[in-house]
Amino acid sequence: TTPKPIKHFLQFSDFTLAEFEYVIERAKIIKRKFKNYEVYHPLIDRTLVMVFEKNSTRTRLSFEAGMHQLGGAAIYLNTRDSQLGRGEPVEDAGQVMSRMCDIIMVRTFGQEIIERFAANSRVPVINGLTNEHHPCQVLADIFTFVEHRGSIAGKTVAWIGDANNMLYSWLQAAEIFGFHLNVSTPKGYDIDPTLVATTRYTFFDNPLDACEGAHLVNTDVWTSMGYEKENAERLKAFDGFMVDAPKMARASADALFMHCLPAHRGEEVAADVIDGPQSVVWDEAENRLHVQKALIEYLLLGEIA
Ligand code: CP
Ligand code: NVA
Repeated sequence: TTPKPIKHFLQFSDFTLAEFEYVIERAKIIKRKFKNYEVYHPLIDRTLVMVFEKNSTRTRLSFEAGMHQLGGAAIYLNTRDSQLGRGEPVEDAGQVMSRMCDIIMVRTFGQEIIERFAANSRVPVINGLTNEHHPCQVLADIFTFVEHRGSIAGKTVAWIGDANNMLYSWLQAAEIFGFHLNVSTPKGYDIDPTLVATTRYTFFDNPLDACEGAHLVNTDVWTSMGYEKENAERLKAFDGFMVDAPKMARASADALFMHCLPAHRGEEVAADVIDGPQSVVWDEAENRLHVQKALIEYLLLGEIA
């Protein structure tokens, strides 16, 4: 018999709607257990290795704490200390790590790096952010939306700012969950059509218009990790794209505001928006923990009867 192919989560489109619905239901249960201090150790003796080629606060903390809470262990590796920083091929790293550990999370630069890594892994690989995708964050964000407002199907989500990893994961999510994106990015920072296979979005030159009637207004840093050299140039190009009170006023009266964090108040978001009553940024951050525990559980144990 041929072995079952290994299930990875390298981009949002790797899962079906039914799989996401299952993971979201499990995340609700796992979150409740956590809040009730209920011991839940389905992953005793399992080890997660986390490979970071870029900085992180939330991703490291949520994966490491989450694996511990599930009864397993997590190991943190970065480029500086591991042999990856000295040129060991990712293919070799994938082979070696997957012989010692049960599941792997990778945060790196190009998507092709994590794909090569996964192609050489015997165990599931999770994308903890690449230049092109950030699927765990969008999973947490959708879970957060569902908690606050119910189903996201048929809703309108505004994306204001850079065409970056977060936007590409949101675009893939729109296709799977059946919602619409209103996208506004500055000239020269357009969506790369080779990364998108959905028609579920409308492009607006004016960010104010993109907010019209939105049920969720979303933004992110103007300069993502790896693009720091472009920072000064980007600050100029993104002038007018700050999510501020006038933009939130164009959205639906009950619109939520999201930002995956870290944020820059006074750049991509005004302080009175991110710290205001419509903002759910702390819930988004917390929910990384709960959805990733459900994701790891699903990748390692499959559907629990
Ligand atoms: N949102 C997010 O992924 O945060 P970190 O970079 O701190 O992990
Ligand atoms: N787009 C940002 C997200 C950080 C969590 C980046 O890639 O740096």
